[in-house]
Amino acid sequence: MIWDVHAHLNDPRLAGELEAVLARARAAGVERIVNIGFDGDSSAASVALAEKYDFIYAAVGVHPHDAAGAGPQTWDRLRDLARHPKVLAWGEIGLDYYRDLSPRDIQRRVFTEQIEMADEAGLPIVIHDRDAHGDVLAVVCERPPAHGGVFHSYSGSWEMAREVLRLGFYLSFSGPITYRNARQALEVLAKAPADRLLLETDCPYLPPEPHRGKRNEPAYAALTAAKMAELRNVSLEEISRITTENVYRVFTRLQPGETDAGMDSGIKPE
Ligand code: NI
Repeated sequence: MIWDVHAHLNDPRLAGELEAVLARARAAGVERIVNIGFDGDSSAASVALAEKYDFIYAAVGVHPHDAAGAGPQTWDRLRDLARHPKVLAWGEIGLDYYRDLSPRDIQRRVFTEQIEMADEAGLPIVIHDRDAHGDVLAVVCERPPAHGGVFHSYSGSWEMAREVLRLGFYLSFSGPITYRNARQALEVLAKAPADRLLLETDCPYLPPEPHRGKRNEPAYAALTAAKMAELRNVSLEEISRITTENVYRVFTRLQPGETDAGMDSGIKPE
């Protein structure tokens, strides 16, 4: 069983054929998906999707692109959504200095404020870091999240990874580890401890080879898992097992032994 810990299933490119997308995911062994919000509306949509499908979970938060547009109403809404039992994390949050769609000082303030909200909600965070490695590290050092978190689609150096791991974070890898120019990510993947690795697609973005340049979907997490297995010289089953164990360690709202019946039944089989 593979967990795709970072998907955007509400994106129109996937939502239009969601049943087929989910069927292909399950056929490929990608049996659990964490669907990620990026603002108030997408976070609410993410929770709604998690209510509809027992194998889909949610994260709620405001992406750095949308930081400037978030206000008190957004935060009230997210705090409310975060109480839902299928919300596993607060995110994605962080800094994006590549597109700079919100002013950087606002991105930093909103990132810090959301770490505080995640702490209050008892949730780990999901970090988006694009071309902002130094400042992301500065923020999480100054205001470490109480419940840890995940660096999603990790793209930094091994030097930074060492620091991130020392702080207790998990590293999640996506399609780019299959690209020819992935030298830096491969170094991190070779050196990082197994008990901090996670798999994701970030679909519809970042498709692995041979789908580079096209639309990504959760089924392709199996291709990234296969690449991770090859790089670490272990079997695909071993990678699936390790990354699933890590999911339960970082997303503590999940109950071990939880079944497809969902989290609400409270009835444990004999
Ligand atoms: Ni994302």
